[in-house]
Amino acid sequence: MPSRQRRTGGGLKRLALAGFGLALFGFLAIQTIPVPLENPPVLSEPNWDSPQTRALAERACFDCHSNHTNWPWYARVAPVSWLVAHDVYEARSELNFTEWYEVDDEGRRPGEMAEEIYDGDMPPLRYLLMHPEARLTPEEKQALAEGLNATLAASP
Ligand code: HEC
Repeated sequence: MPSRQRRTGGGLKRLALAGFGLALFGFLAIQTIPVPLENPPVLSEPNWDSPQTRALAERACFDCHSNHTNWPWYARVAPVSWLVAHDVYEARSELNFTEWYEVDDEGRRPGEMAEEIYDGDMPPLRYLLMHPEARLTPEEKQALAEGLNATLAASP
């Protein structure tokens, strides 16, 4: 009787070990898929209306909407790297503060940036959870939104 119990226990243990081994193998295997986490050269920036606007944008927006991305360590570990890379490349294609005069992006429609900030859509919540330093007070949100409108008016 006790021996049978031991046998069942051993079987479960082996199964758990096999499952863990398989998961570990899968995790290691996906690390070999290359994910380009690049910062292309900075080509141009808008004519910022004030250093304060640029500083706020740098704090809250540049990781995704510029070529100055600070790629965090966990962005180098798949599958998180796939999500982060996708986020940044999509964000840059809609609005890039460091290729300002090269492309006329969707995100540069007048009022669009301010609206995203006031609505709390930008920066995205998933980003703020990992980057508390990017959280803006209501006063900072207003300063950034108005500053971006002024910047866009001067550098359409
Ligand atoms: C975590 C990365 C991230 C950060 C940080 C971030 N954004 Fe975005 N942003 C995105 C992504 C991804 C998109 C494209 C998909 C979407 O609209 O959600 C986007 C789209 C936009 C758009 C275009 C919206 C549209 O619908 O056309 C604007 C404008 C914008 N962001 C402004 C900002 C501003 C201003 C900040 C800083 C206050 C900011 N974003 C911070 C990821 C980010």
